[in-house]
Amino acid sequence: MSHWVRLCGVKEIPEPGSVMEAEAEGVAICLANVDGRLAALDNWCPHRRGPLGAGWIEGEAVVCPWHSWAFNTVTGIAEPPERARVDVMPVKIENDDLLVNLGDSDVPRL
Ligand code: FES
Repeated sequence: MSHWVRLCGVKEIPEPGSVMEAEAEGVAICLANVDGRLAALDNWCPHRRGPLGAGWIEGEAVVCPWHSWAFNTVTGIAEPPERARVDVMPVKIENDDLLVNLGDSDVPRL
């Protein structure tokens, strides 16, 4: 079920090659700009809940700033040898806003 909500303004979107932390309806989200492709992931790393939105991008992955687990920004799957996954939520731009679809998310609400 779709549930599109505003995540941030278009002007707040991080520069290509960078990430930021954001929040929508109490859900903490890592917003990544991978060479112009935007990806919204669960912000909390499944290892020890490091903030992925405070990490960095390497290739197609967001790297956790605490112990460097890397999560693919398309699938949410951690790079081997780690066995973990974060949720990836659809995003779209409407007018001056970036929207995220929390309806397809399995991220627990706070
Ligand atoms: S908390 Fe993210 S790698 Fe440890």
